[in-house]
Amino acid sequence: MIDVHNHLLPALDDGAENLDETLRMCRMAAEDGIDVVVATPHAYDGKFVTDPDTIRTAVAELNDRLAEEGIDLMVLPGMEVRVSAELPHRLLNGEILPLNDRTYVLVEFHPAHIPVGFENLVHQLVQSGYRLILAHPEQNIGIQARPEYLYKLLNLFDPFTILCQITAASIMEGNGSDSAKTAKILLENNLAHLMASDAHNALSRPPVLSPAVNIASSIIGEERAAWMVTDFPRAVIEGEPLSAQWEPQNPRRWWRLW
Ligand SMILES: [Fe+2]
Repeated sequence: MIDVHNHLLPALDDGAENLDETLRMCRMAAEDGIDVVVATPHAYDGKFVTDPDTIRTAVAELNDRLAEEGIDLMVLPGMEVRVSAELPHRLLNGEILPLNDRTYVLVEFHPAHIPVGFENLVHQLVQSGYRLILAHPEQNIGIQARPEYLYKLLNLFDPFTILCQITAASIMEGNGSDSAKTAKILLENNLAHLMASDAHNALSRPPVLSPAVNIASSIIGEERAAWMVTDFPRAVIEGEPLSAQWEPQNPRRWWRLW
């Protein structure tokens, strides 16, 4: 499996505090059947400003250490970027690191709302040759209230220009009932493309995917649940377009009545 969203690099953000914790997380990931992790420290979220070269260096050092320790895991560089009007400018300036230095940019919304004018921002990034991954939309209060927003957003662009990444813990009800309910709605309506751990430590937010894949299998079937942690993230780290017979559907509104 490939985990495209993970805060395992030591002491760069609110993820792993030190190298010991990093190595614990790497062992856990490998034991869960994860082969490749994209390290995605927070950037430009108002708290953390991590530059791409610092991340590239930390990833290279960690891969050397993993080889020494005999831990069978490959770490690739990336970044989780808070959406802001400066995003296109920063990207073109090389201040933002797309996943594995290719074409997909992992972005997160402020958790409380959907950013105004996000569609225009996506247009600018697409014109520059990038695609976007929305980090854990199921945890956004605006999307929890209006999951149909994602359907409309995705349909403004070519298929798979925007991918939605749901977090394993959300499906496991670890991020509250609203996130769990929304994750299920996104799965049922083909609005979730990737599953990732968004791991921050080895205890409360661990780098584990397989239990959540099992739950997703019961909703969308085994094959499609497997794609979310294999074929789709592989295309992401290679910077290649996704292809699948997978049409987004408009979430029905009746669920709101319950
Ligand atoms: Fe994250």
